[in-house]
Amino acid sequence: MTARILDGNKIRDQIFAELSDEVRLLTSAGVRPGLAAVLVGENPASQLYVKSKIAACEHLGIASALLTPPATASTLDLLAVVEDLNRDNDVDGILVQLPLPPQVDTKRILEAVDPAKDVDGFHPVNLGRLVSGRPGLVACTPAGCMEILRRNEIKIEGANAVVLGRSDIVGKPMALLLMHANATVTICHSKTRDLPDIVRRADIIVAAIGKAAYVEPDWIKSSTGGGPGAAVIDVGTNRITDPEQAERLFQNFPGRLEIFRAKGSSLVGDVHPDAINTAGSLTPVPGGVGPMTIAMLMSNTVKAARLRRASPKFSATQSTASAR
Ligand code: GUN
Repeated sequence: MTARILDGNKIRDQIFAELSDEVRLLTSAGVRPGLAAVLVGENPASQLYVKSKIAACEHLGIASALLTPPATASTLDLLAVVEDLNRDNDVDGILVQLPLPPQVDTKRILEAVDPAKDVDGFHPVNLGRLVSGRPGLVACTPAGCMEILRRNEIKIEGANAVVLGRSDIVGKPMALLLMHANATVTICHSKTRDLPDIVRRADIIVAAIGKAAYVEPDWIKSSTGGGPGAAVIDVGTNRITDPEQAERLFQNFPGRLEIFRAKGSSLVGDVHPDAINTAGSLTPVPGGVGPMTIAMLMSNTVKAARLRRASPKFSATQSTASAR
């Protein structure tokens, strides 16, 4: 049986519909949510990401500002930019697009962002709140993964969840969110022994290791045993350009192979595409976690505006996505 597809675009659209109502209400009461994006230098991938974040703001009626310091900017230059945004009352969310140029002390910049405006959830204060189960702003990609699980009614409580990857941005916060939702969580990384056997026990798999098609289909619990089969959340977005690798990965997907041949590249997750034949449910790449990251950034921006500027009467208008 093929896996149920966990469609991130569909959930993004639902969340956008909820958020645009909330933005309209806030704006009519004089609190128009605002996001400032800081894009340093001219990294094409970062430019593309930031462009789609600004487009999402425009779609929802959130005010946006784009600051583009040059690639030669120093740590002190960027600290000054962040301080200005911290002081600007029209700015509810500050997004410093990563990676920053090598001469910049990234941690220092992220720690300079006012935690109340930290819509990426990268500030140690927000990470600390997450560790201790207090309300705060949560990193967008793991928050988006949780939203996919919840809105597809995948049971988290009591589930064996395996998180592949231990990054500060995805793996660690993801594991904490799953643990707070009462899953039994195992975090795996490059030094983990017997990885396939650990993954085989998982009811929920979150793959965030950044290696194309690393998770093999036969590591994934299938529904043949009587249960629903594992839910697989694939955070990876790896661009492959090697035709031989594409032939191997897409041998059962002639359509994808054709597109690869036409474009010379393709996006592949951390999970092998053939996992569609073993998993119970699965996020596609593209179209799974990616759109959710932007949805949660918008949700965090609206939440930050509500918490920082709006009076308590607005709390009744919270959407599900932004209510955490
Ligand atoms: N670079 C890659 N992913 C992200 C993200 O989620 N936020 C920011 N600010 N930069 C990134």
